[in-house]
Amino acid sequence: MSNTETVNKQSLDIVNDLPIDKQIEQLIKNHKELSISRSRKSIVNDEQDGLKLLPESSRKRLEDGGIDLSKGYPEVPNRDEIPIFVDEAHAIRDYDVPFVDRGSQADPEKKALFGAATEIIHLTDKVGTEIVGLQLENLTDQQKDELALLIAERVVVFFRDQKLSPKAQYELGDYYGNVEKHPQVPHVTGLPGATVIWVDYGLSKGLDLNFNNANFANWDSVRYLGYGNQGWHTDLVHERQPAGYTHLHLDSIPGVGGDTIWSSGYAAYDKLSDEFKKFLDGKKAIYVSADAYLDRNDPLGGPKKVERVHPLVRTHPATGWKFLFVNRGMTKRILGVSPIESDLILNFLFDIYEKNADIQVRFKWTNTKSGYGTSAIWDNRISQHRNVWDHEGKSPRHGTRVTSLAEIPYFDPESKSQRETLGLPLKKWDA
Ligand SMILES: [Fe+2]
Repeated sequence: MSNTETVNKQSLDIVNDLPIDKQIEQLIKNHKELSISRSRKSIVNDEQDGLKLLPESSRKRLEDGGIDLSKGYPEVPNRDEIPIFVDEAHAIRDYDVPFVDRGSQADPEKKALFGAATEIIHLTDKVGTEIVGLQLENLTDQQKDELALLIAERVVVFFRDQKLSPKAQYELGDYYGNVEKHPQVPHVTGLPGATVIWVDYGLSKGLDLNFNNANFANWDSVRYLGYGNQGWHTDLVHERQPAGYTHLHLDSIPGVGGDTIWSSGYAAYDKLSDEFKKFLDGKKAIYVSADAYLDRNDPLGGPKKVERVHPLVRTHPATGWKFLFVNRGMTKRILGVSPIESDLILNFLFDIYEKNADIQVRFKWTNTKSGYGTSAIWDNRISQHRNVWDHEGKSPRHGTRVTSLAEIPYFDPESKSQRETLGLPLKKWDA
């Protein structure tokens, strides 16, 4: 008997006096093969499979870091804990969490951080800096604050050759904000908040990612969101307090390929004319989650995403600079204009981020000794990023991500853009 036939037969068995949403809840919880109508393919909980696939360097890092792998890896949230209805998903973290941007307290000259490093390498003019000669695990609070400000200015900062346990990575994230614990993605065993970034594991579970479809989301992320993380995006924009400082540590890296690209939201804003900036300043937009759920009041109405309204142009609390807060997959609509106008404007703004190579950095990850890795810490507020899946899974790529949620987004009409503040030239178009 096929899965479909099983579901059909058993679904008939649960018709009873319960309200329809409760019946659907029962059906979904009782059938592992149902995907809870999420946009991503359901990952069935079987940690032993992951353990077999775990690359040697990653295993060494986890074991050296005191992660107990005897119960398997990665840990997949229990099916009973994954929200089914959009109101449940919306209720997660739907309250204010105090946040102080560590970068706002830092020495603007960053003497403690730069003084201890052996080299500071700017990878491009606008975005991306590599720090050499420091171990993240040993930073003082003063250096952490200065690092936060550096990330807020440079968008993303890299550290190679790091000996960094998942717990130490978590603690650094905890210093920078409220660490996000994702309700449904796999995480390090025993450490919710350290999300596992491991496309190879998804492929082993049936993720439909291949050479031909890998970049589909860069044309239409609404229809093709499911193909890995190759489409330009910003993490967790639907949160009440969306993602700020975000730290990906890769402990298994392909010898060739698997790069990541970031694009700057300050520079994207500065690419616009003064008149267009004025039009966008103060506008708000609807932001949606990557995952979809069901509407309790219309459970057969199809997938529904968590939605929240945030300013389209935001002000960064540490730098004070304005930035463009959009991404193709998760900015749904600008409020106050028609849907057609919104689509036209948003598509143009997505293009600004995605097509201007002079505001981007492409980073080549490098592996060193087994159990070591390379870190990228970026600010999700002021950037978009994407992975480049050119290695096609031929060699393993595995890492852990800790995301610190930041402030409730705001727009300060008195704030200035990055180039205005730094006194850099901006073209004045004819009136
Ligand atoms: Fe991402």
